[in-house]
Amino acid sequence: MANEHATDNNAHTDLSKLAGGLAIVTGGASGIGYAILEAAIEHGLQPVIADIDSDAIEEARDKLKPKANTNELQILGIEVDVSSEDSVLALQKTVAEQMPGVPISLLVCNAGVGAGGSVIGARDIDWDFVIGVNLKGVAHFTRHFIPKMLEQDAPGSFVATSSQDGLCAAQGVYGVTKHACVALCEALYQELRGLLSVHVLCPNVVGTNIVRSGTHRPERFGGPSPTTPATEALVERFKNYGMPPSRCAAMVFKAIESGDFYILAEAEEDPGHIHNQARVRMEAILNRGRPFRPPSKFIARVFRPDT
Ligand SMILES: NC(=O)c1ccc[n+]([C@@H]2O[C@H](COP(=O)([O-])OP(=O)(O)OC[C@H]3O[C@@H](n4cnc5c(N)ncnc54)[C@H](O)[C@@H]3O)[C@@H](O)[C@H]2O)c1
Repeated sequence: MANEHATDNNAHTDLSKLAGGLAIVTGGASGIGYAILEAAIEHGLQPVIADIDSDAIEEARDKLKPKANTNELQILGIEVDVSSEDSVLALQKTVAEQMPGVPISLLVCNAGVGAGGSVIGARDIDWDFVIGVNLKGVAHFTRHFIPKMLEQDAPGSFVATSSQDGLCAAQGVYGVTKHACVALCEALYQELRGLLSVHVLCPNVVGTNIVRSGTHRPERFGGPSPTTPATEALVERFKNYGMPPSRCAAMVFKAIESGDFYILAEAEEDPGHIHNQARVRMEAILNRGRPFRPPSKFIARVFRPDT
């Protein structure tokens, strides 16, 4: 490989080589993205909180500040709607102005919305919303940031957050977009030929605010929808039973170090479930079977507590 910063088999075995560079994390103000930023600071990366929710950005900034100060790292918080190419370009300009010459060592396209409903019921505007955030949000950063990362004289990593729903038999609009996110990462990996490392995070249920995604629905996709008591009860169960976001963050850095492309973030309470779902899907493809998702008591406890 001609480029001295190219990865060895998709791995950056010495993570300290990423230190000092920027860690841009979309959806970084909450949940998994926030946890990845916390871990990035521990690895000496400069955190960039890129999120649509300006209040949450400020809260995240305050929480990250003590650790960032200890490591002498500056925090950038930038409002962005990843589904809008113009907004992504504006973020790129702000980063370049505020951190001139600092390489982007880690780009995490993590922002996502758990929305859309069933493929029979979804309206055009629902598809536009969920594809806009979960797929085009990743595509916009790929198109505008990857060429910059290739120009810089430094090593780099790209991570996107898909889901277990991107590996098993797809369900709903969300599942369709999460499959597409995995596919985008597979295509990117092959195009990059090791120049940057590429990884796709596929978690089981995580204790975050994902169920409140409707509150972050941009006006051009119909605007925010209020949460209902049922939504709040589900948020509660996600928080009570879902795995901690820090578990996903630790797995991301482990994968960057080891070179793993698919990060199957299994929940401690549901060991092997993602592996099993992926295997069942692949066997169905190879053996003329039908789409089927094996049941999980852990997931039932979150989504169907009365069964
Ligand atoms: N929580 C889970 O159980 C779970 C499981 C598998 C995959 N995921 C995926 O993890 C990722 C992170 O979600 P989370 O669980 O941490 O949820 P979260 O709601 O806590 O965090 C998502 C963040 O994305 C931001 N966001 C939403 N729309 C945006 C937009 N258009 N532009 C920029 N930022 C936007 C939100 O403001 C929020 O801060 C998502 O892609 C989600 O699909 C979550």
